[in-house]
Amino acid sequence: MKLFLAPMEGVVDWVMRDTLTRIGGIDQCVTEFLRVTDRLHPESVFYKNCPELKTGSRTRWGTPVFVQLLGGQAEPLALNAQRAVKLGALGVDLNFGCPAKTVNRHDGGASLLKSCDRVFDIVKTVRQAVPALWCFPPRATSH
Ligand SMILES: Cc1cc2nc3c(=O)[nH]c(=O)nc-3n(C[C@H](O)[C@H](O)[C@H](O)COP(=O)(O)O)c2cc1C
Repeated sequence: MKLFLAPMEGVVDWVMRDTLTRIGGIDQCVTEFLRVTDRLHPESVFYKNCPELKTGSRTRWGTPVFVQLLGGQAEPLALNAQRAVKLGALGVDLNFGCPAKTVNRHDGGASLLKSCDRVFDIVKTVRQAVPALWCFPPRATSH
């Protein structure tokens, strides 16, 4: 049985991920959502959202961290997913669950669930843009 730490914007930042994975028992983490509109974020934005990219996309205690993207446009999501992978992300998580009104008003999160076609389009486009990883690479370091 694997335990995934749920992403929580404003709560589960890198400090919280570091603290909780130090305690142990968590198999995987996800960043807070990185909002994608129509542009490709600079690398600095990815590093701010996920400093673990600089340590093999893992917390100091070896737990993999995926980058979460939130948005409603397939192409920009795919480009940003590619950048996350290029920077070393072990995986990308797509946010279709955020119920916050502000987020939904701006065409992101749970509002996308109203259209299966849009979800399909986003998943397909992002899937084709990033490599299919079949397993995590081994830990780079041991603690
Ligand atoms: C303060 C807060 C922030 C959240 N931020 C995110 C987020 O950034 N991305 C996401 O996918 N879900 C987010 N969620 C949803 C949680 O990850 C989780 O799916 C949700 O709380 C339901 O889990 P539960 O049934 O265990 O409470 C957030 C939830 C809360 C309460």
